[in-house]
Amino acid sequence: MNEKTVTFIVDGKEIKARPEQTIMKACDEAGVYIPRLCAFKDLSPFGSCRVCTVKVNGRPQAACTQPVGEGIVVESQTAEIQQIRRNIIDMLFVEGNHFCMFCEKSGNCELQAMAYRLGILAPKFPYMFPVRGVDASHPDIFIDWNRCILCARCIRTSCEIDGKNAYGFIGRGPHKRVATNSSAGLKGTDADVSDKAPANCPVGSLMYKRIGYAVPIGCRLYDKNPIGSDIEMKKTT
Ligand code: FES
Repeated sequence: MNEKTVTFIVDGKEIKARPEQTIMKACDEAGVYIPRLCAFKDLSPFGSCRVCTVKVNGRPQAACTQPVGEGIVVESQTAEIQQIRRNIIDMLFVEGNHFCMFCEKSGNCELQAMAYRLGILAPKFPYMFPVRGVDASHPDIFIDWNRCILCARCIRTSCEIDGKNAYGFIGRGPHKRVATNSSAGLKGTDADVSDKAPANCPVGSLMYKRIGYAVPIGCRLYDKNPIGSDIEMKKTT
């Protein structure tokens, strides 16, 4: 830890951080997991899903974008905040078509894992069953818009890590979706099987072809450990 640190409180625990850190980054380093979907360790903060909502000195903030501050008091694991997160996850489930039992991402899916972590057994809102398609035109990658949660991790990964701009948002409100940077669809872009973008999709929306069942369901990442446990294992106190 550098000489210059700030100290703040999360759910009663004192955490030291570097002044330039976000609340989420500082908590990650301290072994305190804050749920998230759009945030990803290798990408710049985006602040769109609000699953990381915490209260900072009594006001709701996104932990993935909110900087730390000396003496701030952060609430994360309260019943109220957990319910806000459950409501967001509930809405994501009913707004798309997430058929976990048929999805090859099951067990590796962060949306599914987050629902389990938050104790969601069945959505409480009515399903919308939107009509959405699939782009399987590329030889090695496909997009299934039924499963997209608009986190922009594919867009940001393509730009920030892969050095491309294969994806972008189009439309507004309920019509917003991830589009490819070619009128010919995915096959017309420079997206490639070596890209990290499909690997960084938290759900089964942007996927590599032909590896869906390489690891059997039941032996996958979140089949073994709850989401966030890798961070919580760092806990020292
Ligand atoms: S993880 Fe912070 S807004 Fe999505």
